[in-house]
Amino acid sequence: MVGMNGFDVKDGFYYMLAPIEDMTDSSFRTICWNRGKGADLTFTELSRLESLARRNACTLEKIKLYDETPTMIQLVGQKEMSLKRLLSGFVPNKGFRGFNLNLGCPAPDFVGQGIGCAMVKRISKTRKLVDIIKDHDYGVSIKMRLGLNRFEKEKKVYLNLINSVDADFFIVHARHGKETYVDKADWSVFPGCVKTGKPIIANGDIRTKDDAQKMKDFGCKGVMIGRAATVNPLIFAELKSLPLPQIGGLKAEYERLLKERNVAFKYPKNIFKHLGKSEADGDYGDMG
Ligand SMILES: Cc1cc2nc3c(=O)[nH]c(=O)nc-3n(C[C@H](O)[C@H](O)[C@H](O)COP(=O)(O)O)c2cc1C
Repeated sequence: MVGMNGFDVKDGFYYMLAPIEDMTDSSFRTICWNRGKGADLTFTELSRLESLARRNACTLEKIKLYDETPTMIQLVGQKEMSLKRLLSGFVPNKGFRGFNLNLGCPAPDFVGQGIGCAMVKRISKTRKLVDIIKDHDYGVSIKMRLGLNRFEKEKKVYLNLINSVDADFFIVHARHGKETYVDKADWSVFPGCVKTGKPIIANGDIRTKDDAQKMKDFGCKGVMIGRAATVNPLIFAELKSLPLPQIGGLKAEYERLLKERNVAFKYPKNIFKHLGKSEADGDYGDMG
């Protein structure tokens, strides 16, 4: 049973905004949600669990929720003690829908520490972190790649994890950790993920109504969209066939929120590089 501090994916099909480091800050998440007319759920960019437990001010700022935009706080890390310390002082505010564990980031320094996408095969560690969050009655989801590399993908380590861990839902980014955005996401993995009986949210190269319909036909409970939303935050309303607000109005709202929330300059700088442009024009690097 998912309570107030969680997000229930049982009934319906959901549209989620992906976390994108240095872009999807609270203001951008608010305009993508657009008072319920856009994304159903959003995520904070990744934050180091250990930094949050140490109460590092910059990291705490990343997980600050300013309004009722439904948001899961994304954590990357592995120390149970740090998670317990974070949760013992944590006060959920409006908008909070639980925690998301990042088992997807392929950055070499994370992989070297056994975290990010190196966690996909660390089932008992992941289970312990999930259980600690559940003990506090908070919602918990997992965002994962298919494993560290092609070998792990072929061994289907991602299915072992989905089968063995009791998270509320699993967001599967259909690439392994050695793949870049030049490699197409492998949607053929989704039916196998759905077969586990766990709620699956599809992620990777999803942009159109046809793409979303394919995911629905596979039995996924929703889709998560990243880069396509940074060029067009109206994509969620478009995919849901809702009336579209003016993009100009949404931009003005974004600028108003940035001022009100005193957001670090890097966020609008990165967003305005992409907003209203073609995704192909943007240099996104290889995160996530
Ligand atoms: C620049 C950049 C930063 C990212 N930062 C994160 C992050 O902080 N946490 C995360 O889980 N994924 C991160 N990702 C991965 C995205 O959430 C998403 O899984 C990926 O872009 C595939 O979805 P898309 O094809 O809809 O963009 C990042 C991706 C990019 C391009």
